[in-house]
Amino acid sequence: MKTAITILSIALAASLAFGQGRGQRGGGAGEQAAPAPAPNLNLPAGDAKRGETYYAKYGCWECHGYTGQTGNGARLATTALNANGFVNYIRSPRTNQMPLYSAKVISDQDGADLFAYIKTFRKPPEAKDIPLLQQIINEK
Ligand code: HEC
Repeated sequence: MKTAITILSIALAASLAFGQGRGQRGGGAGEQAAPAPAPNLNLPAGDAKRGETYYAKYGCWECHGYTGQTGNGARLATTALNANGFVNYIRSPRTNQMPLYSAKVISDQDGADLFAYIKTFRKPPEAKDIPLLQQIINEK
């Protein structure tokens, strides 16, 4: 029984390590060279209203939530990506947890619209701006 547990935990540790490596781009020794920087797409101006319809149509909300702050995906409300990085990202996501949306599916214009829409998401408040949280932190 004890051996079985040892073997299981080794397997778990190995798969965790593997899973972590998978999400990263390039870098480590023996890996291939880092991919070329995201190409400049020269995106047109985006329209948030249209972007909202694409956000629903392409199911972004399923993983990123209706506010860009919930779900299993990354928090879109606070993304550091600019429009160009954003559109490049959805065409080649970091991991396979996020589906790939090719330029055939989401054109440059649609991508720019989506970006305009996620920029309308409200950012969550800073911890220092939540009085009740501060009260709890300051309690001794
Ligand atoms: C099936 C779940 C799923 C769907 C659907 C999905 N995403 Fe994601 N997305 C993820 C996950 C998980 C991540 C975190 C990193 C990764 O796995 O690529 C992510 C990351 C991102 C990021 C990177 C954010 C950052 O700051 O690094 C962007 C941008 C993004 N998604 C946009 C979209 C858009 C736009 C759509 C709809 C067209 C969409 N996603 C649909 C799961 C999803």
